[in-house]
Amino acid sequence: MASTARAHTNIALIKYWGKRDADLILPYTDSLSLTLDEFYTTTTVDFDSQLKHDHLMIDGQVISPDKSAKVAHFMDLVRQMSGQKAFAQIKSVNHVPMSAGLASSASAFAALAAAASRAAGLNLTPTELSRLARRGSGSATRSVFGGLVQWHRGIDDESSYAEPIMEKVDFGLEMIAIMINRQQKKVSSRGGMQASVDTSPYFKIWPEVVEQDLKAIKIAIQERNISKIGEIAEANAMRMHALTLSAQPPFTYFEASTIKAINLINQLRQTGLNCYYTMDAGPNVKVIYDQKDRPQILAALGQVFGQDNLVVAQPGPGIEYLETIE
Ligand code: PMV
Repeated sequence: MASTARAHTNIALIKYWGKRDADLILPYTDSLSLTLDEFYTTTTVDFDSQLKHDHLMIDGQVISPDKSAKVAHFMDLVRQMSGQKAFAQIKSVNHVPMSAGLASSASAFAALAAAASRAAGLNLTPTELSRLARRGSGSATRSVFGGLVQWHRGIDDESSYAEPIMEKVDFGLEMIAIMINRQQKKVSSRGGMQASVDTSPYFKIWPEVVEQDLKAIKIAIQERNISKIGEIAEANAMRMHALTLSAQPPFTYFEASTIKAINLINQLRQTGLNCYYTMDAGPNVKVIYDQKDRPQILAALGQVFGQDNLVVAQPGPGIEYLETIE
């Protein structure tokens, strides 16, 4: 039977950057994210004993088997777990610009984990689903849940999964994604984090930095203190990007417009607006702010980047199962 699931993407406030185990995708550190309502992936999986391999279609385009090896590998895992022998027809629709640092892999693998496991007859708990999604992409571990979510790094497959720390985020925390570049990124997060682990002299202290930032942000979340949350998230993101700049050879996800956005957000803050920035493995900047300041922040960012390049996102839900693909 076919099964359809939808997962929303998430943006880390405390970043995951570096794997201890590349096959199991076990990270060096915990991480913490906000699931967003505006960006999501809807995926349908249908096992069919007539097929000779898994067939993947993304946004109406057939993806050749050589370009869908990661998905086929993930489907092998689902087959192993369920005893299902057949290959599958997989149809995925993304409401996320792919590979532009907006974590399309998070919503993609969370939706695939949910649709594939259900179609294969597995009835996984959310924790089990989070573990399975992790095997596709680290950040997908967190997209199983809505709101503010912590991924426990764990020590093995069993203990590495995410948990919601606040599912209903109702204190005005919002994000604006500034779409600086919609192209595919040049250095994948996978390649980028491995280079940082292998060659940045600063990577040694990264786990300690994350532990401290995580402790601080959890207190700020309990206090529902948006400026404190933003300040900690911003610092943590820049510490992550310092790992790419200090790699050998050095590299960066920043583009000229990224710096422009950062400077603008700093300026807005000086005028008393509560706004901060974070970035992932791409040039796009996400602004963290208090909902009540949205009109002024949108107006100021719109003047520089154009309103069409701004997307307002609010806290979003976890996995949902649907009747049909949309
Ligand atoms: O799981 P991946 O390969 O999408 O890596 C995610 C890396 C960051 O987005 C930069 C950080 C994070 O925690 O999401």
